[in-house]
Amino acid sequence: MNQVFPAPRLTDPAGFGRVAVLMGGTSAEREVSLASGGNVLEALRARGVDAHAVDGIPALVSALVEKRFDRVFNILHGNKGGGEDGVLQGLCEALGVPVTGSGVLGSALAMDKIRSKQVWLALGLPTPRYVRLAKGAAVHDAARELGLPVIVKPACEGSSVGITRVFDESGLDDAVALAARYPGELLMEQLVTGGEYTVGVLGEIALPSIRIVPAGEYYDYHAKYQADDTQYLCPGLRGDDELAMRELALAAFRAVGCRGWGRVDVMRDADGNNWLLEVNTAPGMTSHSLVPKAAREMGLPFEDLCWRVLETSLADGEGSHA
Ligand SMILES: Nc1ncnc2c1ncn2[C@@H]1O[C@H](COP(=O)(O)OP(=O)(O)O)[C@@H](O)[C@H]1O
Ligand SMILES: [Mg+2]
Repeated sequence: MNQVFPAPRLTDPAGFGRVAVLMGGTSAEREVSLASGGNVLEALRARGVDAHAVDGIPALVSALVEKRFDRVFNILHGNKGGGEDGVLQGLCEALGVPVTGSGVLGSALAMDKIRSKQVWLALGLPTPRYVRLAKGAAVHDAARELGLPVIVKPACEGSSVGITRVFDESGLDDAVALAARYPGELLMEQLVTGGEYTVGVLGEIALPSIRIVPAGEYYDYHAKYQADDTQYLCPGLRGDDELAMRELALAAFRAVGCRGWGRVDVMRDADGNNWLLEVNTAPGMTSHSLVPKAAREMGLPFEDLCWRVLETSLADGEGSHA
């Protein structure tokens, strides 16, 4: 488990060329992305990278058409203009501009919680039982099939928006109405009672797990971005349990075609079984964010983490293993 990072592939910041740090956008996670992007920009510049902020995909398109950037550090969060759903990745691929993180397939699959679960289930990877809720679906029948408590969520959002835990049948309709306010499909999932974990992935390495202990009932938007009383324990587990958690996260990440970097959310029930929730392909880099915490635990400061993430935009064989 004592993993070490390979040597950086580049040592000269000029090797990256002019870098667009793509942030903001139009998704529900705009503000979080701006905070992440500001941190990344500052870190890259401190390391001598010629990095510049770009707000949203339309601004990036103009800049790329004018050939103003050599590569993109994508720190947009979310879908539909958020840049985490494969659209940006396809655009950059078509224009021949390298971008950090996962490509079209991994981004699109990871953005869709239902499709991610379908892939994991097909491969025998553990994820909570669920029902896809089409428009007009028999919500109460679905809850009975899964057994209460359940959690209702939009399939393609993030930051816990539109999510409700339901312990009582009387709460089902409101939960579905809330999730339905967001575009895309909905799912109802068995609620896992136990510990909440997240595992960052950087290159071929799963970072130490983080156990998240929210002061409130669960890891909602407030606990993620605003609360100062959420506790983060890193590594979240010990010995073989920690190893198994990291292995599962890496397998789940690869199963949905992800590469470069990301973060896998996992619940662990009272019997010690791990259950995959989702993969984030452009996870937060705010002061509260988890990948930076896990990287630090492995001895990688924030600036080095940003450098390494930028390296994920290099083509195979590009750069040297100094
Ligand atoms: N099946 C589940 N059982 C228990 N808690 C869950 C479950 N699904 C989600 N949660 C809680 O809701 C939070 C957000 O869910 P998640 O699926 O990670 O979506 P996102 O982070 O994209 O909004 C999780 O961090 C966890 O606290
Ligand atoms: Mg999550």
